Amino acid sequence: MRILFVSSEAYPLIKTGGLGDVAGSLPHALLDLQLDVRLIIPAYATAIGQLDETKILAQFSEGGDTVTLHEGRLPGSQLKVWLVDAPGYFDRPGNPYLDSNGQPWVDNAERFALFSRIVTRLALNQAGLDWAPDVVHCNDWQTGLVPALLALSPQRPATVFTIHNLAYQGLFPVDSLQKLGLPASWWSHHVLEFHGQLSFIKGGLVFADCISTVSPGYAREIQTAEFGNGLEGLLRHRSAVLSGILNGIDTNEWNPATDPLLEKHYDANNLFGKQFNKQALQTALGLPQKPGTPLIGLVSRLVTQKGIDIILDAISDLVKLPLQLVLLGSGDRILETRLTTLARQHPNKLAVSIGYDETLAHRIEAGADMYLMPSRFEPCGLNQMYSLRYGTVPIVRNVGGLADTVTDTSAKTLANGTANGFVVNTDNSLALVKTIKRALRRYRDKAQWQQLQTTGMRQDLSWGNSAQEYLALYRRAQQANSRPVPGTGDE
Ligand code: ADP
Ligand code: GLC
Repeated sequence: MRILFVSSEAYPLIKTGGLGDVAGSLPHALLDLQLDVRLIIPAYATAIGQLDETKILAQFSEGGDTVTLHEGRLPGSQLKVWLVDAPGYFDRPGNPYLDSNGQPWVDNAERFALFSRIVTRLALNQAGLDWAPDVVHCNDWQTGLVPALLALSPQRPATVFTIHNLAYQGLFPVDSLQKLGLPASWWSHHVLEFHGQLSFIKGGLVFADCISTVSPGYAREIQTAEFGNGLEGLLRHRSAVLSGILNGIDTNEWNPATDPLLEKHYDANNLFGKQFNKQALQTALGLPQKPGTPLIGLVSRLVTQKGIDIILDAISDLVKLPLQLVLLGSGDRILETRLTTLARQHPNKLAVSIGYDETLAHRIEAGADMYLMPSRFEPCGLNQMYSLRYGTVPIVRNVGGLADTVTDTSAKTLANGTANGFVVNTDNSLALVKTIKRALRRYRDKAQWQQLQTTGMRQDLSWGNSAQEYLALYRRAQQANSRPVPGTGDE
C-alpha cells in the first residue's frame, strides 16, 4: 500500500508541537509494516539542509508559481521525504505559522492552499512522477483542502484526515474562497463555510473518506458541544467514519537509557541516574539543590488549552508547599510575563525558561519527579507519555488522551498495579492544588513512588499497535472510496 503522509511540520525538520513529533515518527512505524510511505511537508528555510541524498524530483508551474519538489531522506532513516518549495511561500525564518510578532502570517490561506494544491496534484500522479498513493493521509487544517480538492476528481486515492487539534480550524475571511480560486459551490455551511468564514479544516471533515483523531477519548469528546468547537454536529453526522487512534511516541528518541541529551542514563531497573539528572537540572536553572524536595516539571506551548492560567492561579498556594517547579515554554506573551515575574519573586521555588529548547525539554522530563499537565482539553498529549517513560509521574486533567493514558493513584489501582499518575477532575486551581498535595503525600513513601514510576516506564507507549490501527483505517478508507457515490448514476 502506498501512503502519502501530508503534514505542515515533522520532527526533526521543523516542529512547533506534538504534530511535528507524530509526523516525524508515525511514518517510520508505517514503513516497519512494509507500507511504501512518502512524507510531504513545505520546504521551510531549515528543512532542506537537514536531509540526506537530496535531489530535485520535479519542477512545474502551479497557478503561476514555479514549484520545486525536493526529495531526500531523514539522516539514518529509510523514510523518503518530499519538500514542496515555491518562492516566497515557505522559505522564511522562524515559526511556520506565525510571524515575529506571534501573529499568523498574513498569507497563511495562500500558503497552505498552494501546498494543498500541490499535494493534490502529486496524489493524482499529475506531476510526471512514477508514483501515486493509494491513500493520502492528511493532518490538521493546513492540509484540509486536500480531501476537498481530491473529491473533485472521479478517479482519486482514498483520503484520511486526522484531527490533532480541533481548536485550530484555519478560518479565513469570506473573500478567500474566490481569491484562492475554489469552487463557488463550496460556500455553503454543508461544505466549507463556517459562520461566515472559509474553514480549511472542514475540507477534511466533510470530504475525507475516514476521519480520525489522536485518542479514543477525544474522538468521543469532539462530538459534544463542550469540546466540539462548533463542529460537533458535523462530526456526529460523520460518526460512522470517525475513530480515535492513540498516538505512540518515538521510543528511540525518548529513551532515558540512551538519550544523548541527558547527563546520566537510567532505566526502570536502576533509577539512580534520575537523581543525578535532577541535581543537574536544579543547578542549571539556579534552584537550590534539594534531593528530597519533589521537583515538578512542565514543558508546553503557553496557551489556554494547557491550563497555564490555572497553574498561575495556584502558584501562591504551591510555593507554600515543600516542592520546586520548573517550567519551559513559549506562546502567549501575557502568560510568559506573568510566569517570569513570579519566578523572580520565588527564586528558590520556581524556575521559568521562556523559549523553545529541545535539550532542556528532555532534561526536564528526566530530572523532574512529577510532570504537570492540567489541560482544559488534550487531543492526545505527548508529554505525559514522555514523562511516563522517564519515570516522571504525571499529574493530569481527566480529558482526551490524558485520561486514556494516565490512571489515577488509589488503594485499588495501586493494588492492581495500574496506578501510574494523578488525575484532576475539574479545571480549577483549588482542585489542582489538592491533587498535587495528594501526589506529595504519596511521594514520601519511597517504595510506593517507585511502583508508580516503574509502572509508567514499563508501559508500551510505542507506535506498534497504533500503526496497525492506521493500516486498518487505510483499508476502511479504500473501501469507502471504492463505493459508488450516490446520485452519480454509478450505483
Ligand atoms: P501540543 O502538540 O498540543 O503542543 P503535545 O504534548 O502533543 O502538545 O506535544 C508537545 C511537544 O512539543 C512535545 O514534544 C514537547 O516536548 C514539545 N514542546 C512544547 N513546548 C516546548 C518548548 N518550549 N521547548 C521544547 N519543546 C517543547
Ligand atoms: C495536538 C494536540 C496534542 C496532540 C498533538 C499530536 O497539537 O494538542 O494533544 O498530542 O497534536 O497529535
